[in-house]
Amino acid sequence: MAVRPVVNYPARVLKGIAGPVGSLGGPERALAQDLVDTMYDSPGCVGLAAPQLGVASRAFALDVSVMKRPPDGHHGLVVLFDPELVLATGSELAREGCMSVPDYTCDVRRSTEVVIRGTTPDGHARVLEAVGFEARAIQHELDHLDGLLVLDRVASRQDVFPRKRRAKKGEHLR
Ligand code: CO
Repeated sequence: MAVRPVVNYPARVLKGIAGPVGSLGGPERALAQDLVDTMYDSPGCVGLAAPQLGVASRAFALDVSVMKRPPDGHHGLVVLFDPELVLATGSELAREGCMSVPDYTCDVRRSTEVVIRGTTPDGHARVLEAVGFEARAIQHELDHLDGLLVLDRVASRQDVFPRKRRAKKGEHLR
């Protein structure tokens, strides 16, 4: 377990399709722990995907409970391998930041309710229903596994906002 450096855009690993993980062993559990450790060590970070640690594998960690005002109905720490989107409904435009795109925030349209499934680090299948900010964060992490960043999701340049300074406490990145 270790806090690892976060890869910044532009980088090839952030633009590729991450590979399926399949059966989980020691290296995969270590990756899960590194995702969690790095996420909790990074101010404002509510989610992190494996490509952001330079690993082209389908895995992410997420925890929106660390927010100053945690959204209702959240699931606390979620770590999933080979996550898949099962269902997505609703639509909402809102601001997003990303650890790997430190110089910009973007207004991104996302579904407001999602159902996903995946495998937990201890090898159990998990189905998760999420709404609102947590659903948005999940879609952001799933995008990372398909080489998509917030910059790829904006509808126009009017939806991209330069960040004058790095994130501080109370801002939420993933
Ligand atoms: Co991100």
